[in-house]
Amino acid sequence: MNKVTISNNSNYKIDENMEAMINASDLNGPVPINEPERQYYFIKKARNYVDELAKELGRRPKACSIAFGCQMNARDSEKILGVLRCVGYDEAEDEKADFVIYNTCTVRDNADQRVYGRLGYAGSLKKKNPHMKIAVCGCMMQEEVAVEKIRKSYRQVDLIFGTHNLFKFAELLCYMFESDRMIIDIWKETTEIVEDLPIERKYPFKSGVNIMFGCNNFCTYCIVPYVRGRERSREPKDIIREIEHLAADGVKEVMLLGQNVNSYGQNLENPISFAQLLAEVCKVDGIERVRFMTPHPKDLSQELIDVIRDNPKVARHIHLPCQSGSTEILRRMNRKYTKESYLELATRIREQLPDVAITTDIIVGFPGETDKDVDDTIDLINKVKYDNAFTFIYSKRTGTPAASFENQVSEEDVKRNFDRVLKAVQENAHAQARKWTGTVQRVLIESINEQDESLVTGRMSNNTLVHFKGDKTRIGTFADVHLDECRGFYYMGTEVGGV
Ligand code: 5AD
Ligand code: SF4
Repeated sequence: MNKVTISNNSNYKIDENMEAMINASDLNGPVPINEPERQYYFIKKARNYVDELAKELGRRPKACSIAFGCQMNARDSEKILGVLRCVGYDEAEDEKADFVIYNTCTVRDNADQRVYGRLGYAGSLKKKNPHMKIAVCGCMMQEEVAVEKIRKSYRQVDLIFGTHNLFKFAELLCYMFESDRMIIDIWKETTEIVEDLPIERKYPFKSGVNIMFGCNNFCTYCIVPYVRGRERSREPKDIIREIEHLAADGVKEVMLLGQNVNSYGQNLENPISFAQLLAEVCKVDGIERVRFMTPHPKDLSQELIDVIRDNPKVARHIHLPCQSGSTEILRRMNRKYTKESYLELATRIREQLPDVAITTDIIVGFPGETDKDVDDTIDLINKVKYDNAFTFIYSKRTGTPAASFENQVSEEDVKRNFDRVLKAVQENAHAQARKWTGTVQRVLIESINEQDESLVTGRMSNNTLVHFKGDKTRIGTFADVHLDECRGFYYMGTEVGGV
Protein backbone atom coordinates (compact mmCIF):
# COMPACT_ATOMS: atom_id res chain seq x y z
CA MET A 1 0.00 0.00 0.00
CA ASN A 2 1.27 3.44 -0.86
CA LYS A 3 0.36 6.16 1.55
CA VAL A 4 0.61 9.52 -0.09
CA THR A 5 0.16 12.55 2.09
CA ILE A 6 0.01 16.12 0.96
CA SER A 7 2.94 18.04 2.26
CA ASN A 8 3.51 21.78 2.35
CA ASN A 9 6.98 21.44 0.97
CA SER A 10 5.94 18.80 -1.56
CA ASN A 11 6.62 18.98 -5.26
CA TYR A 12 3.22 20.19 -6.31
CA LYS A 13 3.66 23.44 -8.12
CA ILE A 14 0.76 24.70 -10.09
CA ASP A 15 1.55 25.28 -13.71
CA GLU A 16 1.24 29.00 -14.49
CA ASN A 17 -0.88 28.42 -17.57
CA MET A 18 -3.22 26.16 -15.63
CA GLU A 19 -3.54 28.71 -12.83
CA ALA A 20 -4.37 31.41 -15.41
CA MET A 21 -7.06 29.17 -16.94
CA ILE A 22 -8.53 28.42 -13.50
CA ASN A 23 -8.61 32.14 -12.65
CA ALA A 24 -10.22 32.92 -16.00
CA SER A 25 -13.22 30.67 -15.19
CA ASP A 26 -16.39 32.69 -14.74
CA LEU A 27 -18.37 31.31 -11.80
CA ASN A 28 -21.34 33.52 -12.73
CA GLY A 29 -21.45 32.18 -16.27
CA PRO A 30 -22.65 28.80 -17.52
CA VAL A 31 -20.69 25.69 -16.51
CA PRO A 32 -18.27 24.91 -19.37
CA ILE A 33 -19.08 21.75 -21.33
CA ASN A 34 -15.58 20.95 -22.57
CA GLU A 35 -12.76 19.45 -20.52
CA PRO A 36 -10.50 20.41 -18.88
CA GLU A 37 -12.12 23.89 -18.75
CA ARG A 38 -15.08 22.38 -16.93
CA GLN A 39 -12.81 21.06 -14.17
CA TYR A 40 -10.96 24.38 -13.95
CA TYR A 41 -14.36 25.98 -13.28
CA PHE A 42 -15.05 23.48 -10.48
CA ILE A 43 -11.55 23.90 -9.04
CA LYS A 44 -12.23 27.62 -8.72
CA LYS A 45 -15.61 26.92 -7.16
CA ALA A 46 -14.16 24.32 -4.74
CA ARG A 47 -11.55 26.86 -3.61
CA ASN A 48 -14.38 28.97 -2.23
CA TYR A 49 -15.82 26.02 -0.32
CA VAL A 50 -12.40 25.12 1.09
CA ASP A 51 -11.80 28.75 2.10
CA GLU A 52 -15.12 28.81 3.94
CA LEU A 53 -14.22 25.58 5.72
CA ALA A 54 -10.81 27.03 6.64
CA LYS A 55 -12.52 30.03 8.22
CA GLU A 56 -14.80 27.78 10.23
CA LEU A 57 -11.91 25.60 11.40
CA GLY A 58 -9.55 28.52 12.03
CA ARG A 59 -6.86 26.68 9.99
CA ARG A 60 -6.42 25.11 6.54
CA PRO A 61 -8.25 21.79 6.29
CA LYS A 62 -6.07 18.71 5.88
CA ALA A 63 -6.42 15.79 3.49
CA CYS A 64 -4.93 12.32 3.24
CA SER A 65 -5.10 10.01 0.23
CA ILE A 66 -4.43 6.33 0.53
CA ALA A 67 -3.78 4.13 -2.51
CA PHE A 68 -4.11 0.35 -2.47
CA GLY A 69 -2.73 -1.85 -5.24
CA CYS A 70 -0.69 -1.11 -8.33
CA GLN A 71 1.39 1.75 -9.77
CA MET A 72 -1.61 2.85 -11.80
CA ASN A 73 -3.53 3.48 -8.57
CA ALA A 74 -0.57 5.26 -7.02
CA ARG A 75 -0.52 7.58 -10.03
CA ASP A 76 -4.29 8.13 -9.81
CA SER A 77 -3.87 9.10 -6.15
CA GLU A 78 -1.31 11.70 -7.22
CA LYS A 79 -4.00 13.16 -9.50
CA ILE A 80 -6.49 13.27 -6.62
CA LEU A 81 -3.90 14.96 -4.44
CA GLY A 82 -3.12 17.42 -7.20
CA VAL A 83 -6.73 18.60 -7.21
CA LEU A 84 -6.93 18.69 -3.40
CA ARG A 85 -3.77 20.72 -3.16
CA CYS A 86 -4.95 23.01 -5.92
CA VAL A 87 -8.22 23.75 -4.12
CA GLY A 88 -6.42 24.57 -0.85
CA TYR A 89 -6.08 21.46 1.32
CA ASP A 90 -2.98 21.09 3.51
CA GLU A 91 -0.83 18.23 4.66
CA ALA A 92 -2.22 15.37 6.75
CA GLU A 93 0.23 12.89 8.19
CA ASP A 94 -2.39 10.17 8.49
CA GLU A 95 -6.12 9.48 8.40
CA LYS A 96 -6.73 11.90 11.30
CA ALA A 97 -7.63 14.46 8.65
CA ASP A 98 -10.56 16.54 7.42
CA PHE A 99 -10.78 14.57 4.20
CA VAL A 100 -9.65 10.98 3.59
CA ILE A 101 -9.75 9.38 0.15
CA TYR A 102 -9.30 5.64 -0.29
CA ASN A 103 -8.27 4.59 -3.79
CA THR A 104 -9.18 0.91 -3.87
CA CYS A 105 -7.90 -2.20 -5.66
CA THR A 106 -9.91 -5.33 -6.40
CA VAL A 107 -7.46 -7.55 -8.22
CA ARG A 108 -7.45 -10.01 -5.30
CA ASP A 109 -9.91 -10.48 -2.47
CA ASN A 110 -7.56 -9.51 0.37
CA ALA A 111 -7.29 -5.97 -1.05
CA ASP A 112 -11.10 -5.63 -0.80
CA GLN A 113 -11.14 -6.80 2.80
CA ARG A 114 -8.49 -4.29 3.84
CA VAL A 115 -10.59 -1.41 2.50
CA TYR A 116 -13.59 -2.36 4.64
CA GLY A 117 -11.33 -2.44 7.70
CA ARG A 118 -10.00 1.03 6.94
CA LEU A 119 -13.50 2.42 6.35
CA GLY A 120 -14.50 1.21 9.80
CA TYR A 121 -11.52 3.03 11.31
CA ALA A 122 -12.26 6.23 9.35
CA GLY A 123 -15.86 6.06 10.61
CA SER A 124 -14.63 6.08 14.22
CA LEU A 125 -12.47 9.14 13.47
CA LYS A 126 -15.41 10.91 11.88
CA LYS A 127 -17.38 10.61 15.09
CA LYS A 128 -14.72 12.78 16.75
CA ASN A 129 -14.42 15.22 13.83
CA PRO A 130 -17.81 16.15 12.40
CA HIS A 131 -16.11 18.15 9.61
CA MET A 132 -14.45 15.03 8.30
CA LYS A 133 -15.33 13.79 4.81
CA ILE A 134 -14.60 10.30 3.48
CA ALA A 135 -14.36 9.33 -0.20
CA VAL A 136 -13.84 5.92 -1.79
CA CYS A 137 -12.79 5.47 -5.42
CA GLY A 138 -10.84 3.12 -7.69
CA CYS A 139 -11.30 -0.34 -9.15
CA MET A 140 -13.40 -1.86 -6.37
CA MET A 141 -16.02 0.87 -6.88
CA GLN A 142 -16.61 -0.39 -10.44
CA GLU A 143 -18.22 -3.47 -8.87
CA GLU A 144 -21.87 -3.07 -8.00
CA VAL A 145 -21.77 -5.35 -4.96
CA ALA A 146 -19.00 -3.32 -3.34
CA VAL A 147 -20.83 -0.02 -3.88
CA GLU A 148 -24.05 -1.53 -2.55
CA LYS A 149 -22.26 -2.80 0.57
CA ILE A 150 -20.77 0.62 1.28
CA ARG A 151 -24.06 2.38 0.56
CA LYS A 152 -25.85 0.18 3.08
CA SER A 153 -23.28 -0.55 5.75
CA TYR A 154 -20.78 2.32 5.67
CA ARG A 155 -23.01 5.37 5.93
CA GLN A 156 -20.04 7.47 7.05
CA VAL A 157 -18.86 7.66 3.43
CA ASP A 158 -19.60 10.98 1.66
CA LEU A 159 -18.45 10.32 -1.88
CA ILE A 160 -18.00 7.27 -4.12
CA PHE A 161 -16.63 7.43 -7.65
CA GLY A 162 -14.98 5.01 -10.05
CA THR A 163 -12.01 4.71 -12.39
CA HIS A 164 -13.60 6.23 -15.51
CA ASN A 165 -14.62 9.57 -14.00
CA LEU A 166 -11.62 10.31 -11.82
CA PHE A 167 -10.90 13.31 -14.05
CA LYS A 168 -14.03 15.03 -12.68
CA PHE A 169 -12.90 14.83 -9.06
CA ALA A 170 -13.03 18.64 -8.70
CA GLU A 171 -16.65 18.60 -9.87
CA LEU A 172 -17.55 15.79 -7.47
CA LEU A 173 -15.83 17.65 -4.67
CA CYS A 174 -18.19 20.60 -5.25
CA TYR A 175 -21.25 18.32 -5.21
CA MET A 176 -19.96 16.82 -1.96
CA PHE A 177 -19.71 20.27 -0.36
CA GLU A 178 -23.22 21.11 -1.59
CA SER A 179 -24.95 17.96 -0.32
CA ASP A 180 -25.53 16.17 2.97
CA ARG A 181 -26.19 12.88 1.25
CA MET A 182 -23.76 10.22 0.05
CA ILE A 183 -22.79 11.05 -3.56
CA ILE A 184 -22.32 8.06 -5.84
CA ASP A 185 -21.10 8.58 -9.39
CA ILE A 186 -19.90 5.50 -11.26
CA TRP A 187 -19.51 5.25 -15.03
CA LYS A 188 -19.65 1.88 -16.74
CA GLU A 189 -17.25 2.88 -19.49
CA THR A 190 -15.55 5.86 -21.11
CA THR A 191 -13.64 6.74 -24.24
CA GLU A 192 -12.54 10.06 -22.78
CA ILE A 193 -8.98 10.97 -21.76
CA VAL A 194 -8.72 14.38 -20.10
CA GLU A 195 -5.31 16.06 -20.22
CA ASP A 196 -3.84 18.97 -18.24
CA LEU A 197 -5.25 18.44 -14.77
CA PRO A 198 -3.20 19.09 -11.61
CA ILE A 199 -0.96 16.32 -10.27
CA GLU A 200 0.86 16.12 -6.94
CA ARG A 201 3.97 13.93 -7.28
CA LYS A 202 5.11 11.79 -4.39
CA TYR A 203 8.78 11.86 -5.40
CA PRO A 204 10.62 14.88 -6.82
CA PHE A 205 13.02 12.78 -8.89
CA LYS A 206 10.87 10.01 -10.39
CA SER A 207 7.36 9.77 -11.73
CA GLY A 208 4.90 7.39 -13.29
CA VAL A 209 3.37 8.47 -16.60
CA ASN A 210 0.16 6.88 -17.92
CA ILE A 211 0.50 6.02 -21.57
CA MET A 212 -2.73 4.06 -21.85
CA PHE A 213 -5.73 3.02 -19.81
CA GLY A 214 -7.76 -0.19 -19.69
CA CYS A 215 -7.14 -3.69 -21.00
CA ASN A 216 -8.63 -5.76 -23.86
CA ASN A 217 -7.07 -9.11 -23.03
CA PHE A 218 -9.66 -10.70 -20.77
CA CYS A 219 -7.40 -13.20 -19.06
CA THR A 220 -10.01 -15.46 -17.49
CA TYR A 221 -8.97 -14.84 -13.85
CA CYS A 222 -8.65 -11.08 -14.11
CA ILE A 223 -11.14 -8.40 -13.08
CA VAL A 224 -9.12 -5.53 -14.60
CA PRO A 225 -10.84 -5.39 -18.03
CA TYR A 226 -14.20 -5.12 -16.24
CA VAL A 227 -13.17 -2.35 -13.87
CA ARG A 228 -10.73 -0.38 -16.03
CA GLY A 229 -12.57 -0.69 -19.34
CA ARG A 230 -11.29 -0.97 -22.91
CA GLU A 231 -7.83 0.05 -24.02
CA ARG A 232 -7.34 3.75 -24.72
CA SER A 233 -3.97 5.23 -25.62
CA ARG A 234 -2.89 8.78 -24.96
CA GLU A 235 -1.57 10.78 -27.89
CA PRO A 236 2.25 10.58 -28.11
CA LYS A 237 2.51 14.37 -28.19
CA ASP A 238 0.64 14.64 -24.86
CA ILE A 239 2.89 11.99 -23.30
CA ILE A 240 6.09 13.65 -24.53
CA ARG A 241 4.87 17.07 -23.41
CA GLU A 242 4.15 15.71 -19.92
CA ILE A 243 7.60 14.10 -19.75
CA GLU A 244 9.29 17.30 -20.92
CA HIS A 245 7.52 19.17 -18.13
CA LEU A 246 8.59 16.54 -15.62
CA ALA A 247 12.20 16.80 -16.81
CA ALA A 248 12.07 20.59 -16.49
CA ASP A 249 10.82 20.06 -12.94
CA GLY A 250 13.81 17.88 -12.00
CA VAL A 251 12.47 14.40 -12.68
CA LYS A 252 15.26 11.98 -13.70
CA GLU A 253 13.35 8.74 -14.12
CA VAL A 254 9.95 8.01 -15.60
CA MET A 255 7.93 4.81 -15.61
CA LEU A 256 5.55 4.43 -18.55
CA LEU A 257 2.37 2.83 -17.23
CA GLY A 258 -0.23 0.67 -18.96
CA GLN A 259 -1.94 -2.67 -18.32
CA ASN A 260 -0.50 -4.00 -21.56
CA VAL A 261 2.03 -1.54 -22.94
CA ASN A 262 2.73 -3.57 -26.11
CA SER A 263 -0.62 -2.73 -27.57
CA TYR A 264 -0.02 0.99 -26.99
CA GLY A 265 -0.92 3.23 -29.92
CA GLN A 266 -2.63 0.68 -32.14
CA ASN A 267 -5.99 2.45 -32.04
CA LEU A 268 -4.75 6.01 -32.41
CA GLU A 269 -5.64 7.95 -35.54
CA ASN A 270 -1.95 7.82 -36.44
CA PRO A 271 -0.92 4.42 -35.04
CA ILE A 272 2.48 4.17 -33.39
CA SER A 273 4.12 1.21 -31.70
CA PHE A 274 5.17 1.11 -28.07
CA ALA A 275 8.78 0.64 -29.21
CA GLN A 276 8.58 3.85 -31.23
CA LEU A 277 7.10 5.74 -28.29
CA LEU A 278 9.85 4.41 -26.00
CA ALA A 279 12.53 5.60 -28.42
CA GLU A 280 10.91 9.06 -28.49
CA VAL A 281 10.73 9.24 -24.68
CA CYS A 282 14.47 8.46 -24.51
CA LYS A 283 15.15 11.60 -26.55
CA VAL A 284 13.78 13.90 -23.82
CA ASP A 285 16.73 15.82 -22.32
CA GLY A 286 17.05 15.53 -18.56
CA ILE A 287 15.31 12.15 -18.37
CA GLU A 288 18.08 9.70 -17.64
CA ARG A 289 16.17 6.50 -17.05
CA VAL A 290 12.99 5.11 -18.57
CA ARG A 291 11.08 2.16 -17.13
CA PHE A 292 7.85 0.61 -18.33
CA MET A 293 5.18 -1.62 -16.83
CA THR A 294 3.68 -4.02 -17.98
CA PRO A 295 4.37 -5.80 -21.26
CA HIS A 296 2.33 -8.89 -22.22
CA PRO A 297 4.48 -11.83 -23.37
CA LYS A 298 2.10 -12.60 -26.25
CA ASP A 299 3.14 -9.51 -28.17
CA LEU A 300 6.48 -8.28 -26.92
CA SER A 301 8.08 -7.43 -30.28
CA GLN A 302 11.62 -7.81 -31.54
CA GLU A 303 11.36 -4.10 -32.35
CA LEU A 304 10.99 -3.42 -28.61
CA ILE A 305 14.02 -5.57 -27.77
CA ASP A 306 16.01 -3.62 -30.40
CA VAL A 307 14.96 -0.27 -28.93
CA ILE A 308 15.94 -1.38 -25.43
CA ARG A 309 19.31 -2.62 -26.72
CA ASP A 310 20.01 0.63 -28.59
CA ASN A 311 18.92 3.03 -25.82
CA PRO A 312 21.00 2.90 -22.64
CA LYS A 313 18.41 5.14 -20.97
CA VAL A 314 15.91 2.26 -20.95
CA ALA A 315 16.21 0.50 -17.60
CA ARG A 316 17.70 -2.99 -17.71
CA HIS A 317 14.57 -4.57 -16.31
CA ILE A 318 11.67 -6.31 -18.02
CA HIS A 319 8.72 -7.40 -15.94
CA LEU A 320 7.22 -10.19 -18.02
CA PRO A 321 4.28 -11.85 -16.23
CA CYS A 322 4.11 -15.55 -17.12
CA GLN A 323 1.28 -16.43 -14.65
CA SER A 324 1.96 -20.16 -15.18
CA GLY A 325 4.42 -22.49 -16.88
CA SER A 326 1.77 -25.00 -17.94
CA THR A 327 0.58 -24.61 -21.53
CA GLU A 328 -2.81 -26.10 -20.64
CA ILE A 329 -3.32 -23.66 -17.72
CA LEU A 330 -2.15 -20.78 -19.92
CA ARG A 331 -4.74 -21.78 -22.51
CA ARG A 332 -7.49 -21.76 -19.89
CA MET A 333 -6.19 -18.44 -18.60
CA ASN A 334 -6.57 -17.08 -22.16
CA ARG A 335 -2.97 -15.88 -22.12
CA LYS A 336 -2.42 -16.68 -25.84
CA TYR A 337 1.11 -18.10 -25.49
CA THR A 338 2.57 -21.47 -24.60
CA LYS A 339 5.31 -22.48 -22.20
CA GLU A 340 7.57 -22.97 -25.22
CA SER A 341 6.85 -19.63 -26.89
CA TYR A 342 7.32 -17.80 -23.57
CA LEU A 343 10.62 -19.58 -23.02
CA GLU A 344 11.75 -18.75 -26.55
CA LEU A 345 11.03 -15.06 -25.87
CA ALA A 346 12.76 -15.04 -22.48
CA THR A 347 15.79 -16.83 -23.96
CA ARG A 348 15.97 -14.30 -26.79
CA ILE A 349 15.83 -11.45 -24.27
CA ARG A 350 18.59 -13.05 -22.17
CA GLU A 351 20.77 -13.50 -25.30
CA GLN A 352 20.24 -10.07 -26.80
CA LEU A 353 20.04 -8.07 -23.55
CA PRO A 354 22.42 -9.95 -21.23
CA ASP A 355 22.33 -7.28 -18.50
CA VAL A 356 18.52 -7.16 -18.28
CA ALA A 357 16.78 -8.49 -15.17
CA ILE A 358 13.62 -10.47 -15.95
CA THR A 359 10.92 -10.58 -13.29
CA THR A 360 7.45 -12.06 -13.39
CA ASP A 361 4.04 -12.62 -11.81
CA ILE A 362 2.90 -16.17 -11.03
CA ILE A 363 -0.54 -17.35 -9.96
CA VAL A 364 -0.77 -20.59 -7.97
CA GLY A 365 -4.05 -22.45 -7.59
CA PHE A 366 -5.85 -21.51 -10.81
CA PRO A 367 -8.93 -23.79 -11.22
CA GLY A 368 -7.94 -27.27 -12.38
CA GLU A 369 -4.21 -26.74 -11.69
CA THR A 370 -2.52 -30.06 -10.87
CA ASP A 371 0.84 -30.80 -9.24
CA LYS A 372 2.10 -31.59 -12.72
CA ASP A 373 1.10 -28.10 -13.92
CA VAL A 374 3.00 -26.61 -10.98
CA ASP A 375 6.03 -28.76 -11.94
CA ASP A 376 5.87 -27.02 -15.34
CA THR A 377 5.82 -23.62 -13.64
CA ILE A 378 8.84 -24.55 -11.52
CA ASP A 379 10.60 -25.83 -14.64
CA LEU A 380 9.95 -22.48 -16.34
CA ILE A 381 11.29 -20.60 -13.28
CA ASN A 382 14.48 -22.69 -13.36
CA LYS A 383 14.94 -22.22 -17.10
CA VAL A 384 14.27 -18.45 -17.23
CA LYS A 385 16.17 -17.96 -13.94
CA TYR A 386 13.96 -15.08 -12.91
CA ASP A 387 15.68 -12.24 -11.08
CA ASN A 388 12.56 -11.94 -8.97
CA ALA A 389 8.88 -12.86 -9.01
CA PHE A 390 5.62 -11.96 -7.33
CA THR A 391 3.77 -15.14 -6.47
CA PHE A 392 0.03 -14.87 -5.87
CA ILE A 393 -2.56 -17.35 -4.68
CA TYR A 394 -5.44 -17.46 -7.17
CA SER A 395 -8.31 -15.32 -5.95
CA LYS A 396 -11.78 -15.97 -7.32
CA ARG A 397 -13.19 -12.72 -8.78
CA THR A 398 -16.95 -12.67 -9.28
CA GLY A 399 -17.85 -11.91 -12.88
CA THR A 400 -14.68 -13.36 -14.43
CA PRO A 401 -14.94 -16.60 -16.47
CA ALA A 402 -12.58 -18.53 -14.17
CA ALA A 403 -14.86 -17.94 -11.17
CA SER A 404 -17.28 -20.48 -12.63
CA PHE A 405 -14.65 -22.98 -13.80
CA GLU A 406 -14.89 -26.40 -12.22
CA ASN A 407 -12.18 -27.94 -10.05
CA GLN A 408 -11.35 -24.99 -7.85
CA VAL A 409 -8.17 -26.13 -6.07
CA SER A 410 -8.27 -27.02 -2.36
CA GLU A 411 -6.60 -24.66 0.10
CA GLU A 412 -4.26 -27.42 1.19
CA ASP A 413 -2.99 -28.10 -2.34
CA VAL A 414 -2.60 -24.40 -3.04
CA LYS A 415 -0.55 -23.88 0.11
CA ARG A 416 1.78 -26.79 -0.67
CA ASN A 417 2.31 -25.71 -4.28
CA PHE A 418 2.69 -22.06 -3.33
CA ASP A 419 5.58 -23.01 -1.03
CA ARG A 420 7.20 -25.09 -3.78
CA VAL A 421 6.97 -22.20 -6.25
CA LEU A 422 8.23 -19.67 -3.71
CA LYS A 423 11.27 -21.83 -2.96
CA ALA A 424 12.17 -22.07 -6.66
CA VAL A 425 11.69 -18.32 -7.10
CA GLN A 426 13.92 -17.50 -4.13
CA GLU A 427 16.70 -19.89 -5.12
CA ASN A 428 16.89 -18.41 -8.60
CA ALA A 429 16.57 -14.83 -7.40
CA HIS A 430 19.45 -15.26 -4.93
CA ALA A 431 21.68 -16.81 -7.57
CA GLN A 432 20.82 -14.07 -10.06
CA ALA A 433 21.38 -11.22 -7.58
CA ARG A 434 24.87 -12.44 -6.68
CA LYS A 435 25.94 -12.22 -10.33
CA TRP A 436 26.84 -8.55 -10.12
CA THR A 437 29.08 -8.68 -7.04
CA GLY A 438 32.31 -6.75 -7.67
CA THR A 439 30.93 -4.65 -10.53
CA VAL A 440 30.31 -0.90 -10.51
CA GLN A 441 26.69 0.13 -11.16
CA ARG A 442 25.05 3.49 -11.69
CA VAL A 443 22.23 4.01 -9.20
CA LEU A 444 19.56 6.62 -8.60
CA ILE A 445 19.58 7.49 -4.89
CA GLU A 446 16.00 7.23 -3.64
CA SER A 447 16.01 7.47 0.13
CA ILE A 448 17.81 7.32 3.45
CA ASN A 449 18.18 3.75 4.65
CA GLU A 450 15.39 2.91 7.10
CA GLN A 451 17.61 1.01 9.54
CA ASP A 452 20.80 3.08 9.38
CA GLU A 453 20.63 6.84 8.82
CA SER A 454 24.26 7.04 7.68
CA LEU A 455 23.33 5.03 4.59
CA VAL A 456 21.38 5.88 1.47
CA THR A 457 19.49 3.45 -0.76
CA GLY A 458 20.00 3.54 -4.50
CA ARG A 459 18.24 1.66 -7.28
CA MET A 460 20.20 0.06 -10.08
CA SER A 461 18.98 0.13 -13.64
CA ASN A 462 17.95 -3.53 -13.24
CA ASN A 463 15.83 -2.56 -10.20
CA THR A 464 18.14 -4.07 -7.53
CA LEU A 465 18.74 -1.96 -4.41
CA VAL A 466 22.15 -1.12 -2.98
CA HIS A 467 22.91 0.57 0.35
CA PHE A 468 26.01 2.74 0.81
CA LYS A 469 27.32 5.71 2.80
CA GLY A 470 25.59 8.99 2.05
CA ASP A 471 23.23 11.65 3.36
CA LYS A 472 19.85 13.05 2.44
CA THR A 473 21.28 15.80 0.21
CA ARG A 474 22.07 13.04 -2.27
CA ILE A 475 18.45 11.91 -2.74
CA GLY A 476 17.46 12.26 -6.38
CA THR A 477 21.02 12.19 -7.72
CA PHE A 478 22.95 9.43 -9.47
CA ALA A 479 26.02 7.67 -8.07
CA ASP A 480 28.44 5.03 -9.35
CA VAL A 481 28.62 2.34 -6.70
CA HIS A 482 30.90 -0.67 -6.30
CA LEU A 483 28.83 -3.69 -5.24
CA ASP A 484 30.83 -5.08 -2.32
CA GLU A 485 28.55 -7.75 -0.95
CA CYS A 486 25.26 -9.36 -1.93
CA ARG A 487 22.86 -9.94 0.98
CA GLY A 488 20.02 -11.97 -0.46
CA PHE A 489 18.14 -9.62 -2.75
CA TYR A 490 20.15 -6.43 -2.16
CA TYR A 491 23.73 -5.20 -2.01
CA MET A 492 26.02 -3.28 0.32
CA GLY A 493 28.29 -1.02 -1.70
CA THR A 494 30.86 1.78 -1.81
CA GLU A 495 30.48 4.87 -3.90
CA VAL A 496 33.23 5.38 -6.46
CA GLY A 497 31.86 8.47 -8.22
CA GLY A 498 28.64 10.25 -9.10
CA VAL A 499 26.78 13.38 -10.10
N1 5AD B 1 -5.91 -13.97 -8.47
C1 5AD B 1 -4.60 -13.90 -8.18
N2 5AD B 1 -3.75 -13.08 -8.81
C2 5AD B 1 -4.25 -12.29 -9.78
N3 5AD B 1 -3.66 -11.38 -10.57
C3 5AD B 1 -4.60 -10.83 -11.36
N4 5AD B 1 -5.80 -11.37 -11.10
C4 5AD B 1 -5.61 -12.30 -10.12
C5 5AD B 1 -6.46 -13.19 -9.43
N5 5AD B 1 -7.76 -13.28 -9.70
C6 5AD B 1 -2.21 -11.12 -10.56
C7 5AD B 1 -1.58 -11.44 -11.90
C8 5AD B 1 -1.23 -10.10 -12.45
C9 5AD B 1 -0.99 -9.32 -11.19
C10 5AD B 1 -1.05 -7.84 -11.35
O1 5AD B 1 -1.99 -9.75 -10.31
O2 5AD B 1 -0.42 -12.20 -11.66
O3 5AD B 1 -0.11 -10.12 -13.31
FE1 SF4 C 1 -5.57 -8.60 -16.31
FE2 SF4 C 1 -4.56 -10.02 -18.35
FE3 SF4 C 1 -5.25 -7.42 -18.72
FE4 SF4 C 1 -3.10 -8.04 -17.20
S1 SF4 C 1 -3.33 -8.46 -19.40
S2 SF4 C 1 -4.73 -6.57 -16.70
S3 SF4 C 1 -3.74 -9.95 -16.23
S4 SF4 C 1 -6.64 -9.13 -18.24
